[in-house]
Amino acid sequence: MNQILIGAQWGDEGKGKIIDILARKSNIIVRYQGGNNAGHTVKFDDEVHVLHLIPSGILHPGKICIIGNGVVIDPEALFHEIKVLESKGVKVHGRLFVSEQAHIIFPYHRLIDALLEESRSNGEFIGTTKKGIGPCYADKMARTGIRVGDLRDLPYFRHRLALVLKEKNKVLRRIYGHRGLSFKKVCTDTLRFRKRLLAIAIDTPSYLYHAAKKRKNILFEGAQGTLLDVDHGTYPFVTSSNASVGGAIAGSGVSPTLIDNVIGVVKAYTTRVGEGPFPTQFPPVLMKQIQTKGGEFGSTTGRPRRCGWFDALIARHSVRINGLNEMVIMKLDVLSGLDEIKIAVGYKLNGKTYRDFPPSSCKLVRCRPIYETMKGWKQDLTAVKRWKDLPLNAQRYIRRLSRLMETRIAMVSVGSKRSQTIRLTNGK
Ligand code: GDP
Ligand code: IMO
Ligand code: MG
Repeated sequence: MNQILIGAQWGDEGKGKIIDILARKSNIIVRYQGGNNAGHTVKFDDEVHVLHLIPSGILHPGKICIIGNGVVIDPEALFHEIKVLESKGVKVHGRLFVSEQAHIIFPYHRLIDALLEESRSNGEFIGTTKKGIGPCYADKMARTGIRVGDLRDLPYFRHRLALVLKEKNKVLRRIYGHRGLSFKKVCTDTLRFRKRLLAIAIDTPSYLYHAAKKRKNILFEGAQGTLLDVDHGTYPFVTSSNASVGGAIAGSGVSPTLIDNVIGVVKAYTTRVGEGPFPTQFPPVLMKQIQTKGGEFGSTTGRPRRCGWFDALIARHSVRINGLNEMVIMKLDVLSGLDEIKIAVGYKLNGKTYRDFPPSSCKLVRCRPIYETMKGWKQDLTAVKRWKDLPLNAQRYIRRLSRLMETRIAMVSVGSKRSQTIRLTNGK
């Protein structure tokens, strides 16, 4: 079975935990978009692992992990991550492969990411992770990017880097008043990773095609979330890749007809790091309470995540855009203790009611949510293992979310560990 797992909100839904669970029955786990802007947390045996670039399946011995052509790779970040994993006893060698076609993040991408963000004024900040993601994808589209496979032919690589860097230095000096970067330094810093990168570089689309023919189970690990998708998210407050289902196809080279299932992940509430509209954002006191209880601090940047009520419009938008056959609901435990829980079921704008997510951020900023209120529950859920042991009000909440999202619920997560997961065989 080949499955795609997708974040259905603004990222950090808990994809890492679910990938780790699904990886057990998979042979190959593939990252297909984004880069080390992602931070996917996996907890077990009282150990916490945060994966940024490497598929979360790496923690299962024997599984093959692929970084697809749609991912942008910062070599320094990649080899640092490998080192951290190996220092924890995770064997990476022989199990991790990267696409020859994946684009490389260079120091000028990171620098321009930071300078661009600094040059923005209030209301225009995106709040990027400053990992160079946007500028690297921009180069890919402008056809001025450099790919992993380009490292094979050294004179060609040097020639391309010299050309690109000449342009980048013009931008750095003339637009940002910054000093240029030395070709020699950028080149030697990159070539430090050349051998190791080429040793794991393969033709990933072909690898995946043959694996699928041999009926290997392939699991595609989405990064970010549908609302951060460059086309279907809250543009321009998005990331620079397709975090929705199309990204899995384009970013891995797998055919859509080989995909058997598409799964979404949502939190039982909503969070967002970085800037951009967020209609159901909590007032300050509740924000602090949920931030603290839910540990809502970015896995990559440590920034506090903004928190708010569950927004059924954005989740349903994700179900539709991605064709999500089922949804996993995370962090239900965090809502314990609230007297009432709200769900946004519509938006109001200029006296009009909207039931579907609007395709414009300008519009979204002005939308006021229409809430439905449900009764909360007091019990701690973190030890609950079966659906029938959930408090009735929690069951009602999950059923309501399922109906509003128009999809079945496959699992409910009540804690960060593998064991704190309720599987629903017949959906809800
Ligand atoms: P990802 O980017 O989608 O993989 O999510 P992150 O790892 O950035 O953020 C999810 C956070 O929630 C991590 O710290 C997880 O350990 C934690 N987490 C996952 N599931 C649950 C859950 O059901 N309850 C609680 N309390 N924490 C969870
Ligand atoms: P995972 O995979 C949450 C956000 C940033 C910023 C915007 C653009 O862990 O869910 P970028 O550096 O990508 O250009 O930043 O996207 N962002 C994420 N938010 N989870 C992520 O990844 C994110 N990756 C990027 O905060 O608002
Ligand atoms: Mg994350």
